[in-house]
Amino acid sequence: KNASIILAPFSGGQPKNGVELGPEYIMEAGFKQQVEELGWNTEVVEPLGKTNYNDLQSDIKDKFGVKNAEVVSSVCHKIHDAVKDAAQDGRLPVTIGGDHSIGTATVSGMLEHNPNTCVLWIDAHADINSPATTDSGNLHGCPMSFVMGIHKESYPPCFDWVPQNLKPSKIAYIGLRDVDKGEKQILKEYDIAAFSMYHVDKYGIGKVVEMALDKINPKRDCPIHLSYDVDAIDPSFVPATGTRVQGGLTLREGLFIAEDVAATGLLSSVDIVETNPLLGEHENHVLDTVSAACAIGRCALGESLL
Ligand code: ARG
Ligand code: MN
Ligand code: MN
Ligand code: MN
Repeated sequence: KNASIILAPFSGGQPKNGVELGPEYIMEAGFKQQVEELGWNTEVVEPLGKTNYNDLQSDIKDKFGVKNAEVVSSVCHKIHDAVKDAAQDGRLPVTIGGDHSIGTATVSGMLEHNPNTCVLWIDAHADINSPATTDSGNLHGCPMSFVMGIHKESYPPCFDWVPQNLKPSKIAYIGLRDVDKGEKQILKEYDIAAFSMYHVDKYGIGKVVEMALDKINPKRDCPIHLSYDVDAIDPSFVPATGTRVQGGLTLREGLFIAEDVAATGLLSSVDIVETNPLLGEHENHVLDTVSAACAIGRCALGESLL
């Protein structure tokens, strides 16, 4: 069992400082050793090298209605190549963000490696705005549209390198509770499997994960990319993140999702994003958030309670 821990210390997909420190805090907490204790050989990959891509940011929308398109695109291209290289090498990519704009990189990288890949997107948000629908202009709200080619005529040309081959039938969401109007329209129009907190309350998390996999992976024969935004979990457990929304998953529900995906034996890659250590009000906020992020990774990689 080989894994590549791919560090993506990037914040240009959203305006709050600190999310670029996520990888450092998570590694500092001992994530690599924790993964090795589960029996994985790990290597750490830093596709962004020592370059700081976080000073070039602006909070002004370009003529396409989005912010920092050039830097988001070039950072994503590097991460995309690192994810794809790791997978081609037989290593399971674990990408640590950074903000969720890097979903553009990880999903497209895994789809190039294996076009049958399906995507489980765990998030309070759908991140499926296109430049045509986004209000904020923040590209961490857009990765799903880029990898699907939704409203492609609205994209800045720097994203031309992104393969747009994710099919709507191959994506399911769990944890949604803050979805923009334009995004709701897209989810309907493309008939995307979306399980909100309403469904979690109604059916329970076990049933919801089963229903999500039945939609995107009915024969349980396709590799699963798990893209985990820590804000899916309720801010009482995971406070240090940039776009908190009350009424989220309990910590156990959140970890269960990762455990249950691990139990399928089909996990092919995982992202853990949006940990922002500068947004904790006390040190405990940061500790709770960082340890939840580590726990998500461990559960996805096979840690079990017994
Ligand atoms: N829908 C909002 C937007 O597009 C919020 C996105 C939040 N995304 C995230 N990855 N936390 O700006
Ligand atoms: Mn390339
Ligand atoms: Mn989110
Ligand atoms: Mn997200």
